[in-house]
Amino acid sequence: MSSEIKTIRDVDLKGKKVFVRVDFNVPFDSNGNISDDTRIVAALPTIKYLADEGAMVILASHLGRPKSKADTQFSLAPVAKALSEKLGKPVTFVPDCVGGEVKAACSAMKGGDVLLLENSRFYSEEKKNDPEFAKKLIADTGAEAFVNDAFGTAHRAHATTAGVAAYVPVKVAGFLIEKELEFLGSKTENPERPFTVILGGSKVSDKITVIDSLLDKCDAMLIGGAMAYTFALAQGKKVGKSLVEPDKVDLAKSALEKASKKGVKFLLPIDNAACQNVDFAAGKVSEIKIFDGDIEDGWAGVDIGPKTIELYKEQIAKSKTILWNGPMGIFEIKECAVGTFAIAEAVAKSDAISIIGGGDSVKAVKKSGYAKDVSFISTGGGASLEFLEGKELPGVAVLDRK
Ligand code: 3PG
Repeated sequence: MSSEIKTIRDVDLKGKKVFVRVDFNVPFDSNGNISDDTRIVAALPTIKYLADEGAMVILASHLGRPKSKADTQFSLAPVAKALSEKLGKPVTFVPDCVGGEVKAACSAMKGGDVLLLENSRFYSEEKKNDPEFAKKLIADTGAEAFVNDAFGTAHRAHATTAGVAAYVPVKVAGFLIEKELEFLGSKTENPERPFTVILGGSKVSDKITVIDSLLDKCDAMLIGGAMAYTFALAQGKKVGKSLVEPDKVDLAKSALEKASKKGVKFLLPIDNAACQNVDFAAGKVSEIKIFDGDIEDGWAGVDIGPKTIELYKEQIAKSKTILWNGPMGIFEIKECAVGTFAIAEAVAKSDAISIIGGGDSVKAVKKSGYAKDVSFISTGGGASLEFLEGKELPGVAVLDRK
């Protein structure tokens, strides 16, 4: 799929005004400082390339979910500052994304200049993908091309991610989207085998579509997180007071059947770490006990157990491609992070192409300290999941094909 899409390498944007959608939806700490700049760093190759090519780079992004302009804590101004430091050149910040100030700032641009527009979600028209708003974004900036590099937001059909494409003759992907599609797409479509998928997270209902889609591609699937307890119910096991979705037992059963029909090795935890009480607010748990097989009444599973860790490590070591999405337990609490961190270590130390498919697993791998040793970490949460489910992403669908 990725090879069909035109990228910034395929077009000449020298001297052109280019509307570049990036995903600068970054987290802030309580002091208002950017606490994780991964998405800014990930956008740099495209921005630098375009500026070096002599394009006029007009960046657009959302930040958070503001209701209106009055939600000033969602301003992108601090991001412009951080971006300028990383690029080593000035980044003009325009405190709006349409209107007079935008027109003035964009018409003053020269080749190689970089400008960041204010949060596009300050206008409700953005999420509605209002065609008039999309048209105005292009008209006011004077953009002659659309570059989408916002993989994290590519699953949203919004004005800046998809709508604007209707009003420019050229619409291509940036390097980040290209790389995301290569790792989450091509490398899992035609994987080096054995291809092992590790899936975690709390709900079978959140992951059933991705399980179904990946069972068509992988050789082994390892399950962790609370969704494993719904699978345990499907196998007639006892799970105490673990988090389960009793109404999703049939879905779990059908996934088990599909795996067996396809000859996919489907591994579920053979032991579990459980406790009687979890205090999420305080980040504390009561005494942890390991259960082989059934979990006793009054106990809730919080992590995979040591035998499961060994079993999963053996499979990981044999793999040539690994895709991981979703933690193995409540990794935010130290005592329940053992399984997730052990899997992170095993994935990082394996020789396989290792792909972390976004969301909580990215946070977990970063927390484990092994992030630098994996082949690729997706910048998408919902976007990577939808892509792995086999859905077409609106922000990718609008791009020119080769
Ligand atoms: C994300 O953080 O997943 C993206 O930036 C999309 O944000 P959204 O879920 O608010 O659309």
